[in-house]
Amino acid sequence: MTAPVDPAASPVRIRGYRAGDLRDLYRICLQTGDSGTDATGLFRDPELLGHVNAAPYGVLELHIDLLPRVQGRGIGRQLIELQLATLRDRGSHGVHFHVRPTNRRALSFYDHLGFAWLRTGHSHVLGMRLG
Ligand SMILES: CC(C)(COP(=O)(O)OP(=O)(O)OC[C@H]1O[C@@H](n2cnc3c(N)ncnc32)[C@H](O)[C@@H]1OP(=O)(O)O)[C@@H](O)C(=O)NCCC(=O)NCCS
Repeated sequence: MTAPVDPAASPVRIRGYRAGDLRDLYRICLQTGDSGTDATGLFRDPELLGHVNAAPYGVLELHIDLLPRVQGRGIGRQLIELQLATLRDRGSHGVHFHVRPTNRRALSFYDHLGFAWLRTGHSHVLGMRLG
């Protein structure tokens, strides 16, 4: 008899983007697209979020969206720290990004990691100086 596999306990390996990942990125965008929760059913075209949030960014920058089964295990911090280290190595002086005000969980996560609130509004802007 084999023991049941607990997907939440399975190891996670962080690696760079590969061209074959795009389908999975589209799926993850949809499953985290409602302020971090599942947006399936909210869009007539289930690929819309992927067109906007995955296709243009896959090869250029980190877009952090973890499915629930891998959240809360330190992977978000590892991904952000990896991205910041990469940007520092490339001579970047700072980083900024937009977060929806409704995504309170992500906002407090970034706040906890030390990002500054640069602007608040219909889209909050957070950032950090590097270097
Ligand atoms: C938001 C998200 C990226 C966080 O990643 P995560 O892997 O769940 O977070 P981690 O386990 O790496 O947490 C790292 C640290 O932040 C803290 N933290 C996590 N969520 C937090 C929250 N909501 N509020 C305050 N602190 C938080 C953890 O306690 C941990 O602290 P420590 O390292 O000092 O002990 C992830 O939950 C996610 O992808 N959510 C769905 C998609 C989404 O909303 N993406 C953001 C779009 S802008």
